[in-house]
Amino acid sequence: MSSRKKLIAGNWKMNKTSSDAVALVQEIVAAIGKQTDVDVVVCPPFTSLESVGKALDGSVVKLGAQNVHPEPSGAYTGETSVGMLRALFSSYVIIGHSERRTYFQESDGFINQKVLAALKGQLKPILCVGETLGQRESGQTLRVVQTQLEGGLEGVSKDQLTSVVVAYEPVWAIGTGKVATTEQAQEVHAFIRSLLAKTFGDAMAEKVRILYGGSMKPANAPELLGQKDIDGGLIGGASLESRSFVDLVKAAASSR
Ligand code: 13P
Repeated sequence: MSSRKKLIAGNWKMNKTSSDAVALVQEIVAAIGKQTDVDVVVCPPFTSLESVGKALDGSVVKLGAQNVHPEPSGAYTGETSVGMLRALFSSYVIIGHSERRTYFQESDGFINQKVLAALKGQLKPILCVGETLGQRESGQTLRVVQTQLEGGLEGVSKDQLTSVVVAYEPVWAIGTGKVATTEQAQEVHAFIRSLLAKTFGDAMAEKVRILYGGSMKPANAPELLGQKDIDGGLIGGASLESRSFVDLVKAAASSR
């Protein structure tokens, strides 16, 4: 049994107006109550961070953002800084999601700058890594994941690593209904932990939570969450409805 507390994070992507977001989070908070067995995070769009943050006040559910810019301020039209997110009581930020890598050409170097800025500003990065279908089929999965992980964590200190969450999201499993098998997921999760151990030492690597993301649903979660190195989930579609999201939190609680 792992000493790592499970983490279930909802990535709402570009969904929900501010009032829809508040309604969803109120349902989640009411259903989750004061449980502390699992860490729970919701990551609404920027436009709902303030209203959702207020609705979360006094609850155990934490707030996360979906992106951040590495610079503290300045002429970066359309961007949002770590300080701005902290001022809205965000605790986490998703960095390097495959949708940002693909549609906004984010490189490992840029992602690394965001990770370092987040850590400097006391925001916990959820660093996403994962291969495309073509990369998996041509046997490149581990190489791709290694490049993204090492690139993203360049210059991160041992002390800072305890604030880092890694999410393995095979691109072919995102929003497709095609979930990785438990063996496929566990293999990559164990590989990620072995890479962390090489750089930061075994004891530090054992503390890092590695989430699985990609079509995780209440039906497939128990098996995935039962794997040794799968410490939670980064949930897209199933986080947009309170029932399925809360069921995922319950699955994580019973897989401890
Ligand atoms: P789905 O759960 O919709 O496949 O999305 C996963 C994801 O991209 C979470 O960041």
